[in-house]
Amino acid sequence: MSSGDTSMTTDVTDPRELEGADPHTGERGDDPLLEHGQEIDPVTGHITTGHDWNGIKELNTPFPKIALWALIISVVYSVITWVLLPAWPLGSTYTKGLLGVDQTTDADAEHARLVDLRAHWREGFASDDFAALADDADVMALALPEMRRLYADNCAACHGAEGQGRTGHGVGGAQGAGFPALNDDEWLWYSEPEDIADVIRVGINSDHPDTYFAEMPAFGRDGMLERSDIDLLVPWVAGLSAGTSDPDSEAAGIFADTCAACHGDGGTGGLESGAPSLVDAEWIYGGSEQAIRATIWNGRSGHMPAWEDRLSDEERNMLALYVAGLSQAGAQ
Ligand code: HEC
Ligand code: HEC
Repeated sequence: MSSGDTSMTTDVTDPRELEGADPHTGERGDDPLLEHGQEIDPVTGHITTGHDWNGIKELNTPFPKIALWALIISVVYSVITWVLLPAWPLGSTYTKGLLGVDQTTDADAEHARLVDLRAHWREGFASDDFAALADDADVMALALPEMRRLYADNCAACHGAEGQGRTGHGVGGAQGAGFPALNDDEWLWYSEPEDIADVIRVGINSDHPDTYFAEMPAFGRDGMLERSDIDLLVPWVAGLSAGTSDPDSEAAGIFADTCAACHGDGGTGGLESGAPSLVDAEWIYGGSEQAIRATIWNGRSGHMPAWEDRLSDEERNMLALYVAGLSQAGAQ
């Protein structure tokens, strides 16, 4: 490097301009403080390591102080924490630390506290006084997350996450499973929480000895109705929800004689017999003429499991209130 170019920068880089340097050679003579063999880099003023890499000399710069301090502080910190907190494993045990901190005990205590808190409101649900429970806004607010969880874990698979139910497509003779909506105010059975709790307890067409039975007879297959009567009934029933079915037609007469005992006059349901309303837009098995023909021909018999052995009284009561609440929320 020629000495002339170094004047381009503002810092002093020309060794000849450094303090104590020979103005011609740039050498700075022997420093009495240097040990034997040590050499000072004329540009930066640092001692070099003495290693020479093809003319480039490595500077012997000191370790940055901030890093040194960080190291010292972290070592001191870890020694203090070893003494105060649980730290070293010793085979089957460990050094416990002077502060006696133990997260397992903390977690157990917190869990016990939560169970206590929950027991406080959960006990209430063992009672059959549903009206009082439903009116207690504080208890209901505390219980709601648990109700949602119970519903999601046990019921949503069939009745839908929002209680919207799922229409089965048992068309053409196949027994497609259908699940009634629970978020409307049409009921196969009962609308009161105490009765809903009983339906949940014993199920419908289940293996429980007290189960509710619900059977839509197979009018076609079992020869209870002529094919010509079924041909009249199918479009008439399909038109009920749209209000297009003539109440004075021949089909209306067949319906009154054969079907109304279970489905109510004009198919309005609500007889607490397990037979759904046929005048609303909700269908368990489908409202198309094809689906209705399949229902009348083959019959239907849905299966709702019994929950007596699978859920506690409290849990079933919570669910009954939750289901009744879904219907109120959905009806608004
Ligand atoms: C395996 C599917 C299935 C599961 C799981 C299930 N249900 Fe049902 N549930 C049904 C079917 C099917 C019906 C209608 C039975 C019928 O067609 O007569 C029904 C009917 C009901 C009814 C009567 C509805 C009415 O309109 O009267 C209630 C209430 C009910 N279920 C609540 C529940 C609750 C609460 C749970 C969760 C603990 C649950 N169900 C879990 C299939 C199920
Ligand atoms: C003995 C009582 C009973 C009689 C009589 C009866 N049903 Fe039903 N019906 C039911 C029951 C119970 C269900 C619900 C079955 C289930 O969900 O498992 C049902 C379901 C239905 C459905 C399906 C509704 C849906 O939401 O998908 C239709 C359609 C229907 N019935 C039409 C008729 C017609 C038409 C007649 C007359 C020919 C009739 N039912 C006579 C009890 C009856």
